[in-house]
Formats: sequence, structure tokens, C-alpha cells
Amino acid sequence: MMFIRSFMFFLGVLATFLLGWAGIVGIPDSMISRLEPPAGLKRYTAEQLYGRSIYIREGCMYCHSQQARPRGFGADQERFWGRPSIPADFTYDRPHLLGTMRTGPDLVNIAVRQPSEEWQYLHLYNARLVTSESIMPPYPWLFEEKPTAGPGEKALALPDSVAPRNAVVVPTREGRALIAYLLSLDRTYDAPRSPK
Ligand code: HEC
Repeated sequence: MMFIRSFMFFLGVLATFLLGWAGIVGIPDSMISRLEPPAGLKRYTAEQLYGRSIYIREGCMYCHSQQARPRGFGADQERFWGRPSIPADFTYDRPHLLGTMRTGPDLVNIAVRQPSEEWQYLHLYNARLVTSESIMPPYPWLFEEKPTAGPGEKALALPDSVAPRNAVVVPTREGRALIAYLLSLDRTYDAPRSPK
């Protein structure tokens, strides 16, 4: 008798576990694991992938999501953050960086909204240089000070109040890769550009 009871209990635990697994892992996986990448979706370059690893290391995801929601699920469409995201948008994203926190704006289409490399560098160096009341932290360790910019390097156009004396500020390899990654974030390939 005791044995049968324990066995039934064990079966119950197993069934609960398997049902949970099926609902959260098994069924969703079978629905999205064989998606074809959309024709317009570009693979990341090595540089962009390196930048993506910096994005992960620096924890940008703790404040920024990468998923545009459909109408009826918040104001993303009214904000022109891009057409609602679809699973295939993330074919090349491993691990995905969908995020849940939105202390800052969603970045799934940031390359469309803010394509200026110069703006991106200034904002990363110190967000308040371009967005006066920003609460985004500055990332000075992705930049270095040098007497002059080397060949092919572009010094930041800093206002005198923050510019170092007798030196210029240029992005490091990590900083350049991170911005290359941000400027690759564009999931509008199959949708008309949103009116500005
Ligand atoms: C503590 C939260 C926080 C963290 C961490 C953070 N951000 Fe932000 N970010 C913000 C806020 C708030 C804004 C909106 C104000 C502004 O433009 O600075 C913003 C704005 C932005 C924008 C401009 C978005 C737009 O629509 O104009 C970009 C690009 C950006 N962040 C990139 C990054 C990157 C890259 C990292 C990691 C290196 C990062 N953020 C880390 C809070 C954060």
C-alpha cells in the first residue's frame, strides 16, 4: 500500500514537471526552432559580433529591450520603434537579448532611428552631451585619451567644458565594435520605413 502511494506521488510530480517542460520549452521550441531567416535579415559581421559581446558585458540589456511590441501592447507603434518584432528577426541572435527592462528606449531598430555614428559615440562617452537629462551611465572606459588621433581614427568633437587639455578622445577597439553593433540593429527590412 505504502509503495503504491509513493509511486502515485512520484508519478504526479513527474507529470507536473513534464507538463511544465512541454508548455515552457518543448512546444515553443517546436514552433520556432525551424524558422527560415528572412531574406532581408543580414548576418552579423565579426566586428558586430564582438560589439555584441561588449553590449552583453556592459549590461546594456538591464536597461534596454530589443523587441517592438504590436499595437495594444504598449505605445511602441505610436513611438515609431518599428513594426512588431517576429521570432525570425532573431535568427542570428544567440543568446537573444530581448530584455524585459525599459529604463531606456527599445533598441531593436536603433540604427534606423539614430544612424549617426558621431551621435552614438558622444552618447556612449557621456549621454548628457547629447541628451541633457539622461540617466544613462557614461562609458569612458570604451574610449582613450591620446595626444593626437592616429591614422583612420576620429576624435570625438567634445565641447570645451569636458574636453581633456592637450589630448583628444578616441574610441577603443571595444567602443568601435559596440557602435558597429548598434548601427547594425535594423529590423525594418520587410516593412516600409516609419514616417518621421
Ligand atoms: C541605467 C540604465 C541604462 C544602461 C545600463 C544603459 N542605458 Fe542606454 N539609455 C538609458 C536611458 C534612460 C536612455 C534615454 C536617454 C538618453 O538618450 O540618454 C538611454 C538611451 C540610449 C540610446 C539612445 C536611444 C534612443 O532612442 O535615442 C542608446 C543607443 C543607448 N542608450 C545605448 C546603450 C548601450 C550601448 C548601453 C550599454 C553600453 C546602454 N545604453 C546602457 C539608460 C541606460
